[in-house]
Amino acid sequence: MLSKEPRLKGDDSKAWVAQQKLKIAIDGPAGAGKSTVAQLVAREVGYLYIDTGAMYRAATLLVLRAKIPLDHQKAMTELIQRSVIELQPTDASSPEKIRVLLNNEDVSAQIRSREVTAAVSAVSSVMLVRELLVDKQRKMAGLGAVILDGRDIGTVVMPDADLKIFLTASPEVRAQRRYDELTAIGENVDYDTILHEIVERDRKDTNRAIAPLRQAQDAVMILSDNMTISQVVDTIIKLCDKR
Ligand code: DC
Repeated sequence: MLSKEPRLKGDDSKAWVAQQKLKIAIDGPAGAGKSTVAQLVAREVGYLYIDTGAMYRAATLLVLRAKIPLDHQKAMTELIQRSVIELQPTDASSPEKIRVLLNNEDVSAQIRSREVTAAVSAVSSVMLVRELLVDKQRKMAGLGAVILDGRDIGTVVMPDADLKIFLTASPEVRAQRRYDELTAIGENVDYDTILHEIVERDRKDTNRAIAPLRQAQDAVMILSDNMTISQVVDTIIKLCDKR
């Protein structure tokens, strides 16, 4: 909620943003750095970070474990409805940006597996699954002081967000970042394959019938090709400050 109180001289941006309890939406394609940036902004201003992609990933893990075929939408939805997906903040010493609990089990690492990544598009394009998770996301965001990242936050989940960011980078830059991350942990990967996967995921996320990846009309676009992570974080905090 935006306060109409006059700003005190000398107040710094972060303290002011913290006090405003804003709702911030960050959307954009895979690999643009949304989760890194959203988590850092949340820490800087003491907000709750909600990684909505992690919720779709947890739902996908559930479906895969239960061996429900990806076209059995009713069974899939019923199972997700009976289950509890929770997000918990982590501290700076944790390797995870957020802790994800599925029926009280910590699945933060499992939801990042290749198997889950390959199936998540199918699960997240089921209307009933989206309705369940969007409802949960809105409840979590209800009191403000939140930053959500995903594909449809500014358009569907929080059309009333105080600040909407569309964070993107060219496919080549996103592929290079992913290539560097994977080679740094010793994986033997091919740049062209990664680039192809990114272009393919963009195409699916942008063209799906339900809640496609789209920049909200009132979103501010940040193209991060030539920016560092901390430059993006600072830009977002300054934009909040102007609200
Ligand atoms: O951001 P991510 O890669 O963890 O997201 C996983 C998948 O979930 C991605 O393929 C798109 C989907 N997703 C979605 O449909 N809506 C959201 N709000 C967030 C993610």
